[in-house]
Amino acid sequence: MDYFKKAIVLSLKEVTNLPEDEIAGFIEIPPDIKMGDYAFPCYSLSKTLKKSPAIIATELLSAIRPVAPVREVKALGPYLNFFIDKAIFSENISKKIFEEKDRYGCSAIGAGKTIVVDYSSPNIAKHLAVHHLRSALIGSGVYNVYKTLGYKCVGINHLGDWGTQFGQLIVAYKKWGGENAHTSYTVTDLNDLYVKFHQEAEKNPGLEGEAREWFKKLEAGDAEARELWQHFKDISLKEFQKIYDMLGIHFDAFTGESFYNTLVEDTVNRIKEKGLTRISEEALIIDLEPYNMPPCLLRKKDDATLYATRDIAAAEYRKKTYNFERMIYVVGSEQKLHFRQVFKALELMGHDWANHCIHVDFGLMKFKEGKMSTRKGNVVLLEDLLVEAVERIRKIIEEKNPSLENKETVAHEVGIGAIIFANLSTKRNKDVVFDWDAVLNFEGETGPYVQYTHARLCSILRKYGKPVATDIQYELLKEEETVILVKILSQFPLIIRKASEAYEPSLISNYLIDVCSSLNRFYNAHRVLSDDEELTRARILLVDATRQVIKNGLNILGMHAPERM
Ligand code: ARG
Repeated sequence: MDYFKKAIVLSLKEVTNLPEDEIAGFIEIPPDIKMGDYAFPCYSLSKTLKKSPAIIATELLSAIRPVAPVREVKALGPYLNFFIDKAIFSENISKKIFEEKDRYGCSAIGAGKTIVVDYSSPNIAKHLAVHHLRSALIGSGVYNVYKTLGYKCVGINHLGDWGTQFGQLIVAYKKWGGENAHTSYTVTDLNDLYVKFHQEAEKNPGLEGEAREWFKKLEAGDAEARELWQHFKDISLKEFQKIYDMLGIHFDAFTGESFYNTLVEDTVNRIKEKGLTRISEEALIIDLEPYNMPPCLLRKKDDATLYATRDIAAAEYRKKTYNFERMIYVVGSEQKLHFRQVFKALELMGHDWANHCIHVDFGLMKFKEGKMSTRKGNVVLLEDLLVEAVERIRKIIEEKNPSLENKETVAHEVGIGAIIFANLSTKRNKDVVFDWDAVLNFEGETGPYVQYTHARLCSILRKYGKPVATDIQYELLKEEETVILVKILSQFPLIIRKASEAYEPSLISNYLIDVCSSLNRFYNAHRVLSDDEELTRARILLVDATRQVIKNGLNILGMHAPERM
C-alpha cells in the first residue's frame, strides 16, 4: 500500500473500527481528479450500520480527523472523497522514481518463490507458427512481470520433439530424403517430407505400420533412429534459435517431450497402481467421465505414450526439480481441454499442487488480407514477418530521420518492438488482427509510438544538458495535467501486480499508452524548458521520471527503449 493510501486507511480506521486490510480493499480512485484523489464507498458499511450510504458519508465526514498528506475530505453522495497534498504527492513519487531508477516497479513479494512458465514450445521439424510467436511473447512477458516482482522464474521450452510423427519422418527421410539430406536440410525440407509421407500413405497403408515400428525403435533407444531424430532436432533448433534471438526471447531450459521418455514408465505405473486407469479400445486411459471430460489417453494400443502422458510426467518432474509455487502454461485456447484433463489427472494422482498449474490461453493472430506475403501453403513464416517489420521501419527512419546514428540497430529495435507490442497490447484471449499500417504507425497506440515518446523525452533531457536533481520546489508541480501525470506514474507498481494476477502483459502495454497520452497533455499545456530556472528544474524531474517509467515498462514487455529515433 502506498504512503497516501495508508494515511487514508488509518484515519478511516479510527472512525469505522474496520480492519486496515478491509478498508484498503474498498478504497477506489475517483474517475475524475476534481472529485478527489481517493474515495471510500460508504455502501460498504450500510448493511452493518443499517443507514443509507449518503448518511454514513456525512457522519463519517464530521467524525474524521484527516492528517497529512490528506488535505481535505468531502462527502459526495455515497462516497467520502479524499484530497491529498499535491506537492507532497509529486515529491514522494518523483523522488521514488529518481532513486529507484531501473528498479522502479520492482518488489520483493515473490522472494523465495519460484514460477515455472512454459512458452512457445513448438513442434520440431515444422516451422515455428504464428501461435508459437504469441505464446513466446505472452510467456516471456509474464516471465518478466513475475521476475520484476522478485520471483525466481524458470522459462521452459517444452519442445514437441516426440511422438509417432517422428517415426513417419524417419520413414520418409530414408525413402525420399535424397543424397544431401544430411548436410543441407532445412525445416522446409522436413516439412515437405511429412506432406510426402501422408500422400504416399494414402496409396500405401503399410507405411503407417513402418512408421510405428520406427517410433518404437526410437522409444527403445535404437542408435540409427536416435541419430536421425537428433538430426531433425538440430535442424529445427537452429531455425528456432535464430527467431528467438531476433525477438530477444530467452529460455532457461529446452526440456522437450523427449526428455520425459524415460520417466513416463514410472508415471504410468503409479497412475495404474492408484487404480485410476482402465483399458478402452485396447488403449490405456484415465476415465474422466465423472468430470464431464473425454478420457485422458496414456498409452495407445501399440504401447506408445501420448502428448498428455508426457505432460503429466513433465509436471511431476518440474514440481520435483523446481518446487514451483505456480506453473503457467502459455498455450493457445484450442488446448483448453487437454490442460483440464492433465490437471485433473494430476489431482486424481493426489498431487495437492495440481491447482497451482494454470493454463494461460490466448486468441489467434490473424492477418488482414493481402497485407502479408506468404511463402508456401499460405503459412506466414515468422522470420519473414520479423524481417519485413525491420525493413519497413528502416524505410520510415530513412524518410523521417536520415542522419540518425545506429540506424540499423534502431530499425531492428523498433521493428521487432512493433511486433511485440502489437501482440501484447491486445488482451490475450482476444484475436490479434495484424495490419502493417496500424502496427507501425508512429502516432497510433503502437510500439513505435511509445518508443518514440521515450526518445522525445531523452531528447528534451539532452537539450537541457544538466544533471536532473530532486532538490526542487515541489509546489511547482501542482497543475492539473502535472498531477495527473504523476498519478499515472505512481500506479506503475500496482499495474505490474495486476498484470501478474491476470497473466496479462496487455495491462502494461495499455498502461504505457496512458503514460504517453498523459505526458502529451502535460507537455502541450506546460513548457518544460523555459527561462524560469526553478520551473524548468521541476518539470525536468518529471520528464526524467516519465522517461524512466516508459523504459522500465518497455523492458518488461521485452522491448528496447532507444534514446534516439
Ligand atoms: N508443442 C505444442 C504445440 O505446438 C505446445 C506445447 C505446450 N506445452 C505443453 N507443456 N504442453 O501445440
